Amino acid sequence: MPLICVCSPKGGVGKTTLTANLAYALARSGSKVLALDFDVQNALRLHFGVPLSDERGFVAKAAESSDWSQFVLTAGGNIFVLPYGEASEEQRLFFEERLTNDEHFLIRGLNTLLNYPGLIIVADFPPGPSAALKAMSRLADLHLVIMQADTASLSLLPHVENHRLTGDVLNRKAGHYFVLNQSDNRRQVSRDVTAFMEQKLGNQLLGVIHRDESVIEANASQQSVFDFSPASAAAFDIELIAKRVAGILGVKIGDGTVHSKPKMSGF
Ligand SMILES: Nc1ncnc2c1ncn2[C@@H]1O[C@H](COP(=O)(O)OP(=O)(O)OP(=O)(O)O)[C@@H](O)[C@H]1O
Ligand SMILES: [Mg+2]
Repeated sequence: MPLICVCSPKGGVGKTTLTANLAYALARSGSKVLALDFDVQNALRLHFGVPLSDERGFVAKAAESSDWSQFVLTAGGNIFVLPYGEASEEQRLFFEERLTNDEHFLIRGLNTLLNYPGLIIVADFPPGPSAALKAMSRLADLHLVIMQADTASLSLLPHVENHRLTGDVLNRKAGHYFVLNQSDNRRQVSRDVTAFMEQKLGNQLLGVIHRDESVIEANASQQSVFDFSPASAAAFDIELIAKRVAGILGVKIGDGTVHSKPKMSGF
C-alpha cells in the first residue's frame, strides 16, 4: 500500500492536477491507484469525470462511519477516487478535530484501503499546513512537495525545511521530494528559478513540469493529460516523475494501458 502525499506551502501550484495525473500515470503502468482528496475544495474528483453536482464523499460521513472505503468511487480502468465531498461547517470541524485529537481516527477510516493489496494511494491536500496533512504524514511513504517556477514559491522553500507544514520532519520513510511545476523557458524569471531550484535541491528535485496549455485543457475536459494530449510536454514530464516515484517506492512498472471513459460505481 504505498501512500504518497502531494502537498505544498503554496496554493495554486498544481497539487490537485499533479495528484490526478500521477494517479493516471501509475494506473497506466498497471497498478491499482486511489486518488484521495483531503481538500474542502473537493476538486480532485473533477479530474476523474465525477459530475460537479455529485456531492458524495467521506468527510460528511466520517462521524458515523469508521470505514471510508465504502465511499470510494471507481473512475474507469484501475483508478479509484475518494472525494472529500460536500460537508457542512460542522462536519468539517468535526473531521479536523478528530484528525487532530484522535490518533486512531485516520487509521481506522483508511484501514481497509491501507491494507488493500497493491493499492497505491495518492493524497491531495489544501495548501500550507492542515490537520489532514499532519495526520497523514505519519503514515505516508513519500511526500511530493509541489512548487511553481516563480519567486513566490522560492520564498516559501524554507517553510518546508523548517517543518512549517506539519511541525515535524515531513517524511521519515522514503523522504520528501520536490516537483517544480509550470516551468516556462520563455520567461527569464522562470528560467532563473528553475536553475536555482535544480542547483539547490539536487537529487531532491524529482522533476520539472513545463507550463503547458494541454494541462489546462485536459482539466477542463475532465481527462488525464495522457488521454487528452499524449504527445504533450507535460505528459512526458509527468510520466517521468511517475516512473521516478515508482522507482523510489519499488512499484513495478508495466506497459501503459490506455483508460476507458470513467464510470461511477462502488469500490
Ligand atoms: N503544468 C501546467 N501547465 C499549465 N497549467 C497548469 C499546469 N499545472 C497546473 N496548471 C493549472 O494551474 C491551475 C492550478 O492548478 P491546481 O488546481 O492543480 O493547483 P493546486 O495547487 O491544487 O491549487 P489549490 O492550492 O487551490 O488546491 C489550474 O488551472 C491548472 O490547470
Ligand atoms: Mg488543489
